[in-house]
Amino acid sequence: MARKMKDYYFKLAKKEGYRSRAAFKLKQINKKFKVIGSESIVVDLGASPGGWSQVASEITSGKVVAVDISPMPPLDGVEFLRGDITNEETLNQLKEIVKEADVVICDASPNLSGRWSYDHARSIFLAENALKIAENLLKEKGNFVVKVFQGDLLPSYVREVKSKFYFVKLHGPKASRKESAEIYVVAKGFKKR
Ligand SMILES: C[S@@+](CC[C@H](N)C(=O)[O-])C[C@H]1O[C@@H](n2cnc3c(N)ncnc32)[C@H](O)[C@@H]1O
Repeated sequence: MARKMKDYYFKLAKKEGYRSRAAFKLKQINKKFKVIGSESIVVDLGASPGGWSQVASEITSGKVVAVDISPMPPLDGVEFLRGDITNEETLNQLKEIVKEADVVICDASPNLSGRWSYDHARSIFLAENALKIAENLLKEKGNFVVKVFQGDLLPSYVREVKSKFYFVKLHGPKASRKESAEIYVVAKGFKKR
């Protein structure tokens, strides 16, 4: 069943011209939570090959900036910044490209080692850095979506996000593989200090 769903979204992505199956996860998240609006400025972290950036730029007429440590083939209407989201320099470069953002989304994944707790910790580390970027760029009431692999560090991460946003929910989109450990933290209403 899980493989069938994977094949289904893989084929659908090909058919509809999306660069990744992941595109449907953001579509499902946005349908349910309306994180990206028609004029939102969006920063997409861990964006390559670009499925989420494609979906974001379909939804908004505002600027979309994609960031990844790996290259990403150009996409119409999307500005690409090559950089590591755990590096301060990337945040500084982002601040020059967008002074403020309405939405920060992050689908970044570490390279998987197969050791659950190690992969979980590295995923939380990426998510911490994504949160830091969000705190620096988001406008008051801005929105944030981040992927994390589930594990024992997740509750304290969620508590931290909850202290900074008015609304926080965990969401497993249908387009995620059933056997996957991934879950999305969806946060709305940034409390800018
Ligand atoms: C699952 S893919 C993202 C798929 C994308 N959302 C899409 O729809 O096409 C995860 C990405 O995270 C990136 N990544 C991992 N660690 C990173 C880091 N420290 N800084 C920036 N990008 C990173 C990887 O290079 C990879 O392209």
